[in-house]
Amino acid sequence: MRYYVETYGCQMNVYDSKKIEEVLTAEGLSRAARPEEADVIIVNTCSVREHAENRALTRIGELSLKAAPRKAVVAVCGCMAQRMGSELFKNRAVRLVLGPDSYSKLAGYLRAAVTDGAKLLDTARDRSFRFQASEGFRDWGLRGFVSITKGCSNSCSYCIVPAVRGPAVSRPRDEVLKETLAQWRSGVRDVTLIGQNVNAYRYGGTGFSTLLSDVAELVPEARVRFTTSHPRDMDDSVIGVMAVRPNVCEHIHLPLQSGSDRVLESMNRGYTRDRYRAIVSAARKAMPGVSITTDIIVGYPGESVEEYEETYSFFEEMQFDSAFMFKFSARPGTAASRMSDEVPRQEKERRLARLMELERRLASAASARLVGREMEVLVEGRKIKDGVELLTGRTRCNRTVLFRGASELSGKLVSVRIDSSKGVSLSGCLVSA
Ligand code: SAH
Ligand code: SF4
Ligand code: F3S
Repeated sequence: MRYYVETYGCQMNVYDSKKIEEVLTAEGLSRAARPEEADVIIVNTCSVREHAENRALTRIGELSLKAAPRKAVVAVCGCMAQRMGSELFKNRAVRLVLGPDSYSKLAGYLRAAVTDGAKLLDTARDRSFRFQASEGFRDWGLRGFVSITKGCSNSCSYCIVPAVRGPAVSRPRDEVLKETLAQWRSGVRDVTLIGQNVNAYRYGGTGFSTLLSDVAELVPEARVRFTTSHPRDMDDSVIGVMAVRPNVCEHIHLPLQSGSDRVLESMNRGYTRDRYRAIVSAARKAMPGVSITTDIIVGYPGESVEEYEETYSFFEEMQFDSAFMFKFSARPGTAASRMSDEVPRQEKERRLARLMELERRLASAASARLVGREMEVLVEGRKIKDGVELLTGRTRCNRTVLFRGASELSGKLVSVRIDSSKGVSLSGCLVSA
């Protein structure tokens, strides 16, 4: 039997999909290159915005048609499965609907679905990290994710994540270390610790900065990253660890959401723009050249033009290296979905387009500033550009660099002098391997 997995949403889902593949591989299934060749089609879904859900629903429809000739089992997993439950069975090809806490039971469910055509729904909560304790999977390539928390205990007014993923649970420190080491041994050279709010990690007496330091020490030759940081919980001790541990990369993804204090308060984010500015200043002081990236929501209910302008000017002041920007999307059951004063769609689009233009300008400028510098690059593989075969790799600040070199360098850290930039992408030449 063969499986095919398609993944939407955030790093948690990318991680979960790997774990799903791990379960299926242990069951003796192999990966199909195309959905038409699969006996099991899995769609791992995201609920964070309405648009993401609509796209997934369309895709589930398309995949169901592809499943028909082989009578393949279609399984909907992830946050939409948790949110919509049995509603997803309206599509007759869908036989399994599994929330994010149920994947440890996937093999049994699959057998039941294949042998007696059962339809099964499991959206029960399991607060343990049992499923993620495995060390078995060897398929991350060079860049691996290690989950350190699941769920989220914040209550940002607009966000569906706490409802679909449950309250935050921190993974035992030993499990995090065990999985990190297993990934290193299987060839991972760039490890990202993931969670909705990694700074809130606490297991026994271990907080996030200690965990980060321990991971960095355990795999000193691997790059270590983390995401997502929450400005309310980000503290100097994390910046301190980043500054002293040479293998922790100088990059902080620090979602701002809005540059207006009134909007931040209504969002229930728990920080002000002054506090945000202070974190960024401290990080830049400790690590000149640190890359700061962010997330922004425009058109939050009641966001006035002046408040949007505050976001715009603050964004410019912060000189972000890059950002993900979204139009507010009302999610069922969230506090913000009950607020009146909706910003009209066209106005949201105008605000988003203007901010995206600023983001492109700042992101290009950030890349241009790197020209002339010699940078450490992790070689990821080869790429043909304009008929020339080049190596592609990433800087510590996560920018892509193209340069000439031998393909044996793949997986190695090399030194590259940046010669030019175009938009965000960089080109350079190899200085030393
Ligand atoms: N835990 C992370 C983000 C998780 S969701 C944090 O706290 O920052 C990823 C991003 O999606 C958020 O940062 C936010 O910018 C965006 N987002 C979440 N809910 C949204 C909504 N209802 N409408 C528009 N964007 C949203
Ligand atoms: Fe959502 Fe806020 Fe939790 Fe992030 S911190 S996942 S935005 S509730
Ligand atoms: Fe989406 Fe679920 Fe992640 S809602 S953003 S896949 S936690």
